[in-house]
Amino acid sequence: MPSIAVYPGSFDPITLGHLDIASRAAKLFDELHILVVHNPSKAPRFSSEERVELIRSSLGELKIAGPAKIVIDTLDGGLLVNYCKMVGATALVKGFRTSVDLDYELPMAQVNRDLAGVETVFIPADPVHGHVSSSLVKQVADLDGQVGKYVSESVARALATSAANRKAQG
Ligand code: PNS
Repeated sequence: MPSIAVYPGSFDPITLGHLDIASRAAKLFDELHILVVHNPSKAPRFSSEERVELIRSSLGELKIAGPAKIVIDTLDGGLLVNYCKMVGATALVKGFRTSVDLDYELPMAQVNRDLAGVETVFIPADPVHGHVSSSLVKQVADLDGQVGKYVSESVARALATSAANRKAQG
């Protein structure tokens, strides 16, 4: 039976930190689903479709491939564990930068295990990406800062366009 895992997140947008976790997770499983999840507590900058496209282009730019099959998908409602059941995934992948991330993630991991026996595999962030977050890169891009160290070229372009549109709208 192939080992299938789901790497969920808002990915608004995907950063080099996320891509590093995806690439390392892809070495642990036969199939990895990078899942763009609608998080009702956040107002997204990019639509689900745009986020999927940015993930696809970033994986291509960084040549992230390998033996694992990588699937990019969206979940616009419903429980994450139901998506896991639907695709036959037995594990979730989460990256963590600091203990703050772990404090936030631990209850979710416990609930997902309670609900459906889905285990969470935590992968520590490479320290190079320890300070990178989607919200910070959006802020830097909106203030005309350089985000090339934190995101792929396609994401940097999308952030620049989004920053220009927001300025034009006042
Ligand atoms: O990148 P984020 O916004 O921190 O990701 C959080 C996310 C989307 C993974 C989390 O909100 C989530 O798991 N949502 C799915 C809804 C769900 O299944 N909730 C119940 C168990 S935690």
